[in-house]
Amino acid sequence: MDIRALGYIGIDVADLEGWRRYADLLGTMVVADDGDGFAIKIDDRPWRIMVRQSESSEGLGFAGWEVADASALARAADELVAAGLEPEEADAGQRGVRGLIRTRDPGGFTTEIFWGPVHDHRLFVSPQGVSGFVTGDLGLGHIVLGTTNYDAAVDFYTGLLGFRVSDYMGAGGSDVVFTHCNARHHSLALVPADESTLYHFMLEAETLDDVGFALERHHQTGTPISMGLGKHPNDEMVSFYSRSPSGFDVEFGCGGRLVDDDTWTVSEIGRPSLWGHRREA
Ligand code: FE2
Repeated sequence: MDIRALGYIGIDVADLEGWRRYADLLGTMVVADDGDGFAIKIDDRPWRIMVRQSESSEGLGFAGWEVADASALARAADELVAAGLEPEEADAGQRGVRGLIRTRDPGGFTTEIFWGPVHDHRLFVSPQGVSGFVTGDLGLGHIVLGTTNYDAAVDFYTGLLGFRVSDYMGAGGSDVVFTHCNARHHSLALVPADESTLYHFMLEAETLDDVGFALERHHQTGTPISMGLGKHPNDEMVSFYSRSPSGFDVEFGCGGRLVDDDTWTVSEIGRPSLWGHRREA
C-alpha cells in the first residue's frame, strides 16, 4: 500500500474551551467552530486536526492516512480485504476529502485512508506569529501510539500499509519502533502498552525561534510542560513537550531530519534524547 503522509487526525477532548485557548497558545488557527467541536488549521489545508467534544474518552479519535488518488485508495481497500479486514466506505464530505475508507488497527485505533483533500485556498495566519508549520509532502507531523497489540500493529503498519522502519529504541530492538511513509523521519511510532493510548502528536514549526517563543508562551501562561527543551538523536528534532488539556502531550519542535529510502539503514538508538527533555510536570 502506498501511504504518502499523515493527512489529518481527530482528537476527542473533554474540555473544548480549554482546547480553544490551547490551540491559540500553540499558534495554530481555530476554524470551523460549531460549538460542539472545531478544527485546527496549521497550513494551506482547510484543517489538519479535528477536535471533538467527548465526555467518555479523551485521545485519538481517528488518524487519516493519505494516498495519491482514487485508484490508490481502491487498491488499498483491496489489500485490506485480502488481509481479512472489512474496511467500510465512510462519508468523505465529513472530512473534506474526495474518497475515504475506514478500518481499525490492531490496537483498536480508528484508521482512515483517504485521497483528494478539498482545498479552500485560505492562507494560514498564526495568531501568535509562528512562521509556519512544516507539512506539505511530509504530512501534518507525527503520532506516537501506545498499543495493546504491538506485534500485530507493527505488521499492520509495515506489512500492510507499507510503512518503512526508521529505527528502534529499547532492549531487544523492538520496544519502540519509529516508522516513516515519506521523508519525515517518523510519521508514526508504536510502543507496547497495557492500554491503547495516544502518547503525543508532534507539530514541527519552521524555526527554532518559533519553538522558543512557544516555550515562552507556556511559561507566561502557566501552561504545563511535560518535558523541557531537548533534542532527539533519531529524528534530530529540537522540541519540548507540552501537556494538553486532555492530559496527552503535544511535541512542539523544529529541525526534523529527512530520510532517504535509497540510502537509509535501520539502527537502534540508545536513549530517547541526545540532551534535555527533562521531565517537568
Ligand atoms: Fe515525538
